[in-house]
Amino acid sequence: ESGKLWGGRFAGSVDPTMDKFNSSIAYDRHLWNVDLQGSKAYSRGLEKAGLLTKAEMQQILQGLDKVAEEWAQGIFKLYPNDEDIHTANERRLKELIGEAAGKLHTGRSRNDQVVTDLRLWMRQTCSKLSTFLKVLIEAMVDRAEAECEVLFPGYTHLQRAQPIRWSHWILSHAVALTRDLERLKEVQKRINVLPLGSGAIAGNPLGVDREFLCAELNFGAITLNSMDATSERDFVAEFLFWASLCMTHLSRMAEDLILYGTKEFNFVQLSDAYSTGSSLMPQKKNPDSLELIRSKAGRVFGRCAGLLMTLKGLPSTYNKDLQEDKEAVFEVSDTMTAVLQVATGVISTLQIHRENMAQALSPDMLATDLAYYLVRKGMPFRQAHEASGKAVVVAEMKGVALNQLSLQELQTVSPLFSSDVNLVWDYSHSVEQYTALGGTAQSSVEWQISQTHQEKASD
Ligand code: ARG
Repeated sequence: ESGKLWGGRFAGSVDPTMDKFNSSIAYDRHLWNVDLQGSKAYSRGLEKAGLLTKAEMQQILQGLDKVAEEWAQGIFKLYPNDEDIHTANERRLKELIGEAAGKLHTGRSRNDQVVTDLRLWMRQTCSKLSTFLKVLIEAMVDRAEAECEVLFPGYTHLQRAQPIRWSHWILSHAVALTRDLERLKEVQKRINVLPLGSGAIAGNPLGVDREFLCAELNFGAITLNSMDATSERDFVAEFLFWASLCMTHLSRMAEDLILYGTKEFNFVQLSDAYSTGSSLMPQKKNPDSLELIRSKAGRVFGRCAGLLMTLKGLPSTYNKDLQEDKEAVFEVSDTMTAVLQVATGVISTLQIHRENMAQALSPDMLATDLAYYLVRKGMPFRQAHEASGKAVVVAEMKGVALNQLSLQELQTVSPLFSSDVNLVWDYSHSVEQYTALGGTAQSSVEWQISQTHQEKASD
């Protein structure tokens, strides 16, 4: 006997290099627990269909529990012939309980088995990731709440644009992550569909009740078509895309913080806990945590693109190419787990330099508000924009800041300027004008906070 699950029709043996090439146990061993969980449900399904006696089922269930115990204690011994986790678990079950083990796979294929395992595994992982993501969003919203009065420059094109609240910046990232949370929920819904009972391609001919299996394994629904069920990896692609988009958001936030942490900006200081030093330059404190968050995005995208390329051009139903889905899922899950926790640590320990933030605000950033001043006096916006632009030029030619222009000088640009223009130069007054929902006024920032709390809670 070759020890293979498929040895019957083979006379010759497999080349050792091919054996290694074909084997997935090195990584799919991560599925040991869900594989046993799936097998336990399946053996109950077989008993219900009259394919196992109660005694045989009990024997199999106890055997599977014993196998689980061995894995949990780290004493499960892998053999060279264990090509994947399904082979390994069944081989061990047979050693433990004898011939009855041979009935477990009745009507089942590794094709429906492996994709059931993967869905079970991803279901757990996604709820873990969802919790980590919520904790991160919470840390961000907490800061936004606590530091609402802090103002600093908002940038477009990395050029000073308009004064904003620091909280408004934090929330701009938090709301993107809240969408990711919502998107993950969607992905979870499509992961939570049971393929077991689809066999290799054609379905199950032995009367196995798939609704029963669905209830046993607590899935939300069963797959509709056995050919599709055994080969579709949409849920994997969606998960990898979800991770890619979430990493894009985290990478953007990391990049902002890296910039804000430079001596040139000096708005924030990363805690020592999330920084590292230089082996050569003693003064250095590098934002490695943020740089790694930024760079891990590349790997995650790579896994997403890689899987799509694997899927593209496959003929219908199961092909061994699909074995390659698992490393992508495991790697991306590990990466997301680490990234979300590190990001939470970075955000909750970050120091902000309020004075530097305030000092970085400059009157030219109020040119828009100067135009709005004229709008409030009745001038059409296009004209007001032009007039404010002229004031900027006058100030530049005089070599003074925009707020240093005298009332007379402003009046050369427009006679609508009067002494109340002084209010325009107050940064707090500036941000407080942006009261429309979604803007940077305190009332709007508070609204954003309560909305984010609500969306997170409804999850
Ligand atoms: N290790 C395989 C995988 O991960 C299990 C399914 C193998 N099925 C087969 N017909 N060879 O996809």
